Amino acid sequence: MAIKFSKTFLLRKLHQITGIVPLGMFFFVHMFTNSKAMNGAASFDKAVKEIHDIPYLLLIEIFGIFVPLLFHSVYGVLISAEAKPNVLNYSYGRNWFYVFQRATGIFLFFFLLFHILNLRFGVIPGLNMTPVAGNADKAFSIVAAEFQITWVLIVYILGVLATAWHLAYGFFLFAVDWGIVIGEKAQKVTLAASLGLALMLAGVGINAAFAFVRPCGLLPQALCEAPKKPITSGTKF
Ligand code: HEM
Repeated sequence: MAIKFSKTFLLRKLHQITGIVPLGMFFFVHMFTNSKAMNGAASFDKAVKEIHDIPYLLLIEIFGIFVPLLFHSVYGVLISAEAKPNVLNYSYGRNWFYVFQRATGIFLFFFLLFHILNLRFGVIPGLNMTPVAGNADKAFSIVAAEFQITWVLIVYILGVLATAWHLAYGFFLFAVDWGIVIGEKAQKVTLAASLGLALMLAGVGINAAFAFVRPCGLLPQALCEAPKKPITSGTKF
């Protein structure tokens, strides 16, 4: 009999938990670090340098990010392939959310592959060829030069939107599946809170992306410590 990945209890629980810890936690920290770009290049470069100074960083990256990410993405793609969307029969909100959850997961698989090769390793021909890893002093100018290319900026904005949705709705699914919220009313409140979280994460992430193009991102510059002149990122690598 063929194995149904979506029905293997332990793997399914491991898939849910890896989405929250460490991947969800990583995303919060990542958007916080990116938001330091609102205060200018020096502030962002310092934040990246502090990360690079963490002892055992490579091991933390491998076992804390890359292995959980690989497991979460590959298992996620397998269960998405087994999914039976129900929107045509019952177009209730939750059925659409179910479809979005899987669609964003599949998009994120390709986005993250692109993103990590593009900035962490700098190996995509025709785009940035300087890895941020090992070049903390150039981190801001590497990202700023990349975001001058409109389609790249759009891909990153879609990546932030997809992650914000996927993570926030993932929190809701986790809370229901692990029996943390049981009653119908409690589930409604948790769902509303998850949607609020998705909006907040999307707002913070998108503003951080624009902070590499314009001081303080989309917010009034008076709110930031950034240099008040426009960002010039003509750096060629
Ligand atoms: C505004 C959009 C984003 C910017 C400017 C950005 C920036 C960066 C930079 C500069 C790095 C390299 C860090 C280093 O080598 O020290 C990185 C790595 C990474 N980013 Fe993003 N990122 C963005 C969106 C996202 C999103 C939406 C995700 C989804 C979860 C994500 C996940 C990752 C992962 C998994 C890594 C590899 C972490 C590591 O090697 O330690 N990023 N990002």
